[in-house]
Amino acid sequence: MLKREKKRWEDQTLRSIGRRESRAAFFNDSARKISLDGTWKFAYFKAPELSPEDFMQKDTEFSGWEAIEVPSVWQMQGYDCNHYTDVLYLFPLNPPYVPNENPTGIYKKTVVIDNAWLEGDTILKFHGVDSAFDVWINGIHAGYSKISRLPSEFDITPYVDEGENEITVRVYKWSDGTYLEDQDMWWLSGIFRDVELICEPKDGIVDCVVTASLDDRYQRGVLNIDIRSKEAAATGGWTLSKEGKSIAGGNFTACDFHAEVHELIASIVPWNAEVPELYTLRVSTRGHCIEVKIGFRTVELKDDNFTVNGKVILLNGVNRHEYHPETGRCVTYEQTKEDIILMKQNNINALRSSHYPSNEYLYDLCDEYGLYVIDEADLECHGFEWVEHYSWISDDPEWETAYVERGERMVKRDRNHPSVIMWSLGNESSFGCNFIRMAEVIRQIDPSRLIHYEGDFEVETADVYSTMYTRLKQLEEIGTTDMKMNKPHVMCEYGHAMGNGPGGLKEYQDLYRKYKRLQGGFLWEWYDHGLKTSKTEDYRYGGDYGDFPTNGNFCIDGLLMPDRTPSPALAEYKQVIAPVGIISAGAGQREYQITNYYDFLDLSACYLDWWISYDDQVEQAGSILLPPVKPGESEKVRIGYQPFQPQKNTDYYINLSVRLKEETNYAGAGHEIKREQFKLREQWIEIGQHEPDEELQITAEGTCVTVWNRNISVKFDKLYGRLTGVEANGETWLTEGPEMTVYRATIDNDMYKKDDWMNKYFIQLSSEQTEYFDVRRQDAGIIVTIGKYFSCLNQSWGYRCEYEYSIYSDGCISLCLDAKEFQKGKLEPPFLPRIGVKLKVPGEQKKIKWYGRGFGENYPDCKAASYMGVYGADVEALAVNYIYPQENGHREEIKWFSTGKAGHSLLFTSDQPVGINIQEYTQEHLEQARHISELEKEDDIIVHIDYRHSGLGSNSCGQEQSDEVKVKRQDFSLRFHMRVVEEGTEIAEAKKRFLT
Ligand code: GAL
Ligand code: MG
Repeated sequence: MLKREKKRWEDQTLRSIGRRESRAAFFNDSARKISLDGTWKFAYFKAPELSPEDFMQKDTEFSGWEAIEVPSVWQMQGYDCNHYTDVLYLFPLNPPYVPNENPTGIYKKTVVIDNAWLEGDTILKFHGVDSAFDVWINGIHAGYSKISRLPSEFDITPYVDEGENEITVRVYKWSDGTYLEDQDMWWLSGIFRDVELICEPKDGIVDCVVTASLDDRYQRGVLNIDIRSKEAAATGGWTLSKEGKSIAGGNFTACDFHAEVHELIASIVPWNAEVPELYTLRVSTRGHCIEVKIGFRTVELKDDNFTVNGKVILLNGVNRHEYHPETGRCVTYEQTKEDIILMKQNNINALRSSHYPSNEYLYDLCDEYGLYVIDEADLECHGFEWVEHYSWISDDPEWETAYVERGERMVKRDRNHPSVIMWSLGNESSFGCNFIRMAEVIRQIDPSRLIHYEGDFEVETADVYSTMYTRLKQLEEIGTTDMKMNKPHVMCEYGHAMGNGPGGLKEYQDLYRKYKRLQGGFLWEWYDHGLKTSKTEDYRYGGDYGDFPTNGNFCIDGLLMPDRTPSPALAEYKQVIAPVGIISAGAGQREYQITNYYDFLDLSACYLDWWISYDDQVEQAGSILLPPVKPGESEKVRIGYQPFQPQKNTDYYINLSVRLKEETNYAGAGHEIKREQFKLREQWIEIGQHEPDEELQITAEGTCVTVWNRNISVKFDKLYGRLTGVEANGETWLTEGPEMTVYRATIDNDMYKKDDWMNKYFIQLSSEQTEYFDVRRQDAGIIVTIGKYFSCLNQSWGYRCEYEYSIYSDGCISLCLDAKEFQKGKLEPPFLPRIGVKLKVPGEQKKIKWYGRGFGENYPDCKAASYMGVYGADVEALAVNYIYPQENGHREEIKWFSTGKAGHSLLFTSDQPVGINIQEYTQEHLEQARHISELEKEDDIIVHIDYRHSGLGSNSCGQEQSDEVKVKRQDFSLRFHMRVVEEGTEIAEAKKRFLT
């Protein structure tokens, strides 16, 4: 047999051609630059071999040129097609070979260079091209490179002239590199990051490596500067300054293109994520000056922990991909800055650049704002797991160069950043000799940081023991036992933010805080990766472009929706990870224990606002300074509120809000970092009696029984054993009465329960059968008692329900539902999404008020950021429009709520706290719709009153709901009262409790 020809882009041993040695990205550089972003000529082909002849020649005639914006991915510009897979490669596994059909884009741009420019060297820099590319300058081949998410620089000095120069770039969608770029994301190709032309002075600085650490006592700064110069014996100077004030400085003379500076700096403030103290280092030669922002800090392994500046820190992090709904993977500095600020505002202190190095400026921002970074190599070969040959290339020495290069080039680019505390070798690529080698090389180049790699399951080479989605039980074991060589543990991914959720985050945080070896984790993930190719359409996910196979909406798993709207989980995470803890310390509810969870800051930078609230009012408020509680310590504070006369049937809460005293670079003074609420007083008594009014009549016609007088008309259907309507004031207030339900539109985090719930227990196909129907007069009212048999399709478990309605002549209706659970056969669902009733009110009664947790949606295991209060909004505002429709908008601990319109509302008061969900969609619609625009509004508003509602968990990838928040079948009763009240009187009316 003849041997297969190896194409350039099918050679994993070829690092690159003509590419300069990688070097640090400087914060500032005096070299002249021309941005090559903007419009380029573009032609798209199905394979590189189909390129027109002489396409790389200057001014070559070719009719097929179109225009494309750079940076961009061509799939979002109408070429090729969008395709999303989590694990699967889109072609047979035959490394390093790729399909013959290999989408190819040829880009061309002319750049004008003046004579002065030619005095320097011309460097062409691509910040990111997916996945491999060749470059020609004026028809001459100038280089080839790969690794999509790292820069490639070419010295093109020999090929450029004064005047017009033509750059041709040919980009290959598939290359040997693709085998190492199988991250869970859209497959997108092209020149997707900035391109620039740099005029580097002939006596310039080629690279400058700075290590700024602390001495053994973590006090003085130890500064090492390693300069590579263009001139063998270059001379120059350096200065270290802070806000324009010089702190240190000196001169250097290179020897053999290389100079070193070592200096001890006495009075520095160390860098950490809480106090991101930066200094400016300026290094210059005659014609060139570069600036590096440095922070002095030391990262070490100590005993079972990793430390920053000698302290064991806790990472409260998030995984971030580069993503934008309209550009795919092209992001801007501004967007990135907004992300970083939003993270800081939400108490996040760490970021994992999953699963590839980000744009250079991300690290500048993390240095400046203060985030610890795990910088991850652009490396994942997850698809090999599928074929049960996971370490196929990871353990093949022929791939060593390819692996090592991905680590090495990242380190060389990013090593000057104080924010980077760990290098991650990649993600989900099994383990093997290539990782061992990669770690060795990284340690040689940069011994000052730690190595992370989750795929190093036995922690052979990594410095930290990293796991993902570890269940609580196992995490606790890791926290308590000596397994895996006593290395510190991080959870590189947990808390899958897909759709509604994650719930149960607090349980993780509790473990991180309890066991010193557990040093926190990173939520999965920052963004929902929905794409939008036209302004009007829905955000799309896998499969929406006809892409097959796909993992569908598995890419819609972020804390931010594609349009950057934070989903409720972000607020939850903020409260859970807040650096301050508040618990009650007794003493008549005037004393509270404040714990400082910061690693470095004391609490003198914070103050505490407190207020006593009831209903929608504030009884009294005040503010106190916090004592300078040291990190890890607790102190008591006393809230000196005045005694007050409580109103009847009114709950009082004390709210404590820890805020920033001073403005920071991410938030203004007064920014809240933690809020807790404690109940001060709750006492409800019956205070009234139903006023006798015109005697109630009972009319029967067919199966319909109406109970009525001048105040109210309540209709029942004897056959269906159901309340079918309530009218009062000439209006309809209820169009369908309560009926039991155990179903919710499955959330993504129910995905492994869904099949059983819906295809085995048929919980969505429940029905009630009438067992008896009785109407009788009693004292001032009419009692309608309805016996029901509740069960689901072909099931033998269910409930015997007795609905007892008491209708009073003053227009009040009370319902007491008693439900007794039964099970005849053996088949039974282990737990249910909910137990409760649903009913309907007319669609125009959309003004909703409630007293309970709010304002935002909340669930039993996701309510740390929802506080008790009286809230109001139109029904639409109660919903959270998850990109993939599902159950949403639930609220917990409701004592009363009302549905209404101008003038009047129907008030529901409950004898015990219930969950509610008031929406324009039925659960069935929410279940069926795959996109928001497919949701059909009902004419009526659907009201759910839940005895209990299950938590969210994080089981789309991770921990299930814990047992306490799973709704188990159990007997229950619900008791609530309905009556029409005047708009604006709901609060007062809700407090009227009647003797019955
Ligand atoms: C992890 C992986 C991520 C993502 C996540 C699920 O296994 O590292 O890239 O796929 O699961 O959303
Ligand atoms: Mg993966």
